[in-house]
Amino acid sequence: HRHLLGIQGLGPQEITAILDLADGYVDQNRSVDKRKNLLRGRTLVNLFFENSTRTRTSFELAGKRLGADVINMQTQASSVAKGETLIDTAMTLNAMHLDALVVRHPDSGAVKLLSEKVNCAVINGGDGSHEHPTQALLDALTIRRHKGRLAGLTVAICGDVVHSRVARSNIYLLNTMGAQVRLIGPKTLMPAAVDRMGVDVYHDMRKGLDGVDVVMMLRIQNERMKGNFIPSIREYFHFFGLDREKLAMAKPDAVIMHPGPMNRGVEIDSDVADDVERSLIREQVEMGVAVRMACLDLLTRNIPNQVAV
Ligand code: CP
Repeated sequence: HRHLLGIQGLGPQEITAILDLADGYVDQNRSVDKRKNLLRGRTLVNLFFENSTRTRTSFELAGKRLGADVINMQTQASSVAKGETLIDTAMTLNAMHLDALVVRHPDSGAVKLLSEKVNCAVINGGDGSHEHPTQALLDALTIRRHKGRLAGLTVAICGDVVHSRVARSNIYLLNTMGAQVRLIGPKTLMPAAVDRMGVDVYHDMRKGLDGVDVVMMLRIQNERMKGNFIPSIREYFHFFGLDREKLAMAKPDAVIMHPGPMNRGVEIDSDVADDVERSLIREQVEMGVAVRMACLDLLTRNIPNQVAV
């Protein structure tokens, strides 16, 4: 079975094939009749060991709009709460002849481990601070639809990079597609290996935003801090929160993105988050359904030679 465990290892043609297919699903989702029967008879299970609003809901909608049967497993309400392990949970579900399993887990690498034990396609819905591949794909689709391309753009990814699987997947994707990535944030929130990531690093947000095409903000992940950060919210916002004044350093037509959930007033001011001209935050959510339909389609319909991870 083919899986989508990360962006790392995907080539430009594979990424472009997913984005092109997703583009068509955007139109289907805007039409009155949103349902197709491409995946009729297939079964998708969402297995989430961490909270989610966007990823879980959009995978559910994506599966249903392609005609699949969809089951949502909330681990708080499952036998995981009685002590059943990740692998036993996966093997139990596997015995029910699934076609696709979307997994979110707090540990980096847990989804890959699980993918080695089951007979269905596994999609990583976010594992620890490792990868969140469908988020990077939906971000890329959103950017491509606004800017017409990815190659040659300068994209600033700002904030809590060290804990961010979204940042990691976006760095892989944007580098692969020929965009220039800048990381902006305090030294304490940069990964140790940042020098080997093919990015430019800035600790001064105004300098980092100078002339960029895309400003991608990240949530401060308080639940993953192990005592290594946080001065005060006010101080963080002063130096690294996106507001109108810092945004003025970017290109006049620069767009604003955030994967969600947002901490308003911490990493982003409501004034710019809700800017109807430049904020693409709601559109990112819309693109999420289309991208997840494309991923489910490619992985479970077994279209040859397109996605091999
Ligand atoms: N962006 C994202 O993954 O959001 P959720 O945690 O709500 O799924």
